[in-house]
Amino acid sequence: MKAPVRVAITGAAGQIGYALLFRIAAGDMLGKDQPVILHLLEITPALPALQGVVMELNDCAFPTLAGIVATDDLNVAFKDVDYALLVGARPRGPGMERKDLLEANGAIFGPQGKALNDHAKRDVKVLVVGNPANTNALIAQQNAPDLDPKCFTAMVRLDHNRALSQLAEKTGKHNTDVKHMTIWGNHSSTQFPDLSHTTVDGKPALELVDQAWYEGDFIPTVQQRGAAIIKARGASSAASAASAAIDHMRNWALGTAEGDWVSMGIPSDGSYGIEPGVIYGYPVTVKNGKYEIVQGLSISDFARARMDATAKELREERAGVEHLFAK
Ligand code: NAD
Ligand code: LMR
Repeated sequence: MKAPVRVAITGAAGQIGYALLFRIAAGDMLGKDQPVILHLLEITPALPALQGVVMELNDCAFPTLAGIVATDDLNVAFKDVDYALLVGARPRGPGMERKDLLEANGAIFGPQGKALNDHAKRDVKVLVVGNPANTNALIAQQNAPDLDPKCFTAMVRLDHNRALSQLAEKTGKHNTDVKHMTIWGNHSSTQFPDLSHTTVDGKPALELVDQAWYEGDFIPTVQQRGAAIIKARGASSAASAASAAIDHMRNWALGTAEGDWVSMGIPSDGSYGIEPGVIYGYPVTVKNGKYEIVQGLSISDFARARMDATAKELREERAGVEHLFAK
């Protein structure tokens, strides 16, 4: 067994929290040889419910669970943490866009960014799940001037996984046969799930499906999947969101598979003509805990227009929250 690492999870008594904590504690995120100390943050009124979750975590007697800190104090929650999953935020209801949550949720992420800045490990890996995830990640990053901006990422992995599963079903293959999927941009209905470079069982995806299905079915289905789940379940996705968060962090910590890439919301650096200053979904590979944008992909006019539209939405979201950035 390795030495324990500290993993903070905010909103730990919420529905994603309930689907996430037990899997992290069981070693699904960082490996069966990596003990974890969970730092669970909740708002004060949710602390009694959080205590119930703590009791259940203990009752699982997981070999990889090395300790639990349950608190409503940001400075305790982020003390010396190696990983932070920022989940705690309000979910949207039917008829809302995720950016409608900016007002309610934006204010959460400035103080959390500052507390991470002041207390977390200098190479902390932060994943923002709470919506609107990309812009909340930007708010946290902008309040953490002493941390490398690359410490802050947003989750587009659920969209990536949804896209794998839609394409696998359409082509009659398994999702493990699908490689080189990309989600560009925002975790919102402007995201661009791009099949230009995707293969299924080694064959180009766009030779296996027709353009009408790609444009009229695949892209909107992936873009609108969150809303479809809210309509069907009466609550936003939870188990699939938790699973995607684990996938994102596992790949960031332990690396991506040889010959494939994953999608992560990361600080734009000008790659593919996306202006710096937003957290944008890119195809990335990871080695030794460091992610790199996959470079040199050809971009068609069709892709360009969609990549620019989702970048524009992110810049608009940014303009609405700049007052929350540290001066
Ligand atoms: P939930 O309401 O069940 O749980 C949220 C929890 O966060 C609650 O227990 C609440 O008390 C807590 N919380 C609120 N403010 C907090 C704060 N300042 N600090 C700590 N905890 C706080 O919601 P959920 O279904 O678990 O969803 C959480 C968020 O994740 C929502 O914003 C939702 O839209 C988002 N989400 C994102 C994705 C994605 O792909 N990025 C997917 C699914 C859900
Ligand atoms: C999702 O994609 O399922 C989440 O972001 C929840 C939502 O509001 O759609």
